[in-house]
Amino acid sequence: MSDFKNARILVLGASTGIGYECAKHFCHQGAQVCIASSNGEKIHAACESIGAMHGNFPSVFQVDLSDSQSVDRFIEALNESHHLDFDRVVLNAGGPPYYADSLDIPESIWLKHFQSLFLSQIKIVQALVPKMKERRFGRFVLIGSSGMTAPIPGLCISNAIRSAMHAWLKSVSDELSPFNININTVIPGKIATARLEQIEAATADRLGISKEQYREKVQTSIPSKKYGRAEDIVNAVAFLMNKEASSYITGSAIRVDGGLIRSLQG
Ligand SMILES: NC(=O)c1ccc[n+]([C@@H]2O[C@H](COP(=O)([O-])OP(=O)(O)OC[C@H]3O[C@@H](n4cnc5c(N)ncnc54)[C@H](OP(=O)(O)O)[C@@H]3O)[C@@H](O)[C@H]2O)c1
Repeated sequence: MSDFKNARILVLGASTGIGYECAKHFCHQGAQVCIASSNGEKIHAACESIGAMHGNFPSVFQVDLSDSQSVDRFIEALNESHHLDFDRVVLNAGGPPYYADSLDIPESIWLKHFQSLFLSQIKIVQALVPKMKERRFGRFVLIGSSGMTAPIPGLCISNAIRSAMHAWLKSVSDELSPFNININTVIPGKIATARLEQIEAATADRLGISKEQYREKVQTSIPSKKYGRAEDIVNAVAFLMNKEASSYITGSAIRVDGGLIRSLQG
């Protein structure tokens, strides 16, 4: 039997890309999945599309992770419908925008993404940990970025906030581990999603080349010579959420990058 049959799984940022593929996978495995994102139309469409594939429809929530009050309402709604009782959570959100000049980033933009990628994720973990402690089991997986290890030009907000988030995660993992609650990061390299297309377009524009030229240049620089698929991330997430396979892994990070990151550490 699948480790995820009847598991209670929450996936944030689940309307498209990596979050969507995670939700689809866990629904297929027979889990009770809740999905959330900020755009009501998109998240309902994701639910319909997943349900139509496997007959297991996820529950849908709308939350703007960049808005603290919206997150409070979300937690309230999760309490009413599910008593904040989840055993596995994918912490995910939309990536911050591209800025060619890092010193041009206004404070309001920093605050918005700090809320979304840092404070809201922490608030959700805080809300869900008590039930996990009671049950003495839990798995959190954060979707990070290769910029945490090797800062990506133009993505200063992502590089900085995700590094801070990983430091928080490592700190809190000490406190959660005695309760068999593990928290880890998956680090995507270049994964073919809508998000990557946006980054490609912005960077190609800055370099004055076409998107296709830029894509070829990037893919050539990756040891595996190709972009990854969202399913490649799902495999790592599923491993880190498995009860037995990853039981001794916490406060850690797994790169899924086709060899992209050129460093020994991190
Ligand atoms: N793809 C890559 O190569 C890559 C590489 C490194 C890191 N990452 C990071 O991994 C994460 C997922 O990437 P992806 O490629 O799957 O991106 P994506 O396709 O753009 O998906 C982002 C998801 O987050 C949701 N979202 C955006 N803003 C939100 C908000 N304020 N509140 C709640 N949900 C929000 C989006 O749905 P709504 O629009 O409905 O809210 C969507 O479901 C991103 O943070 C990205 O930066 C991706």
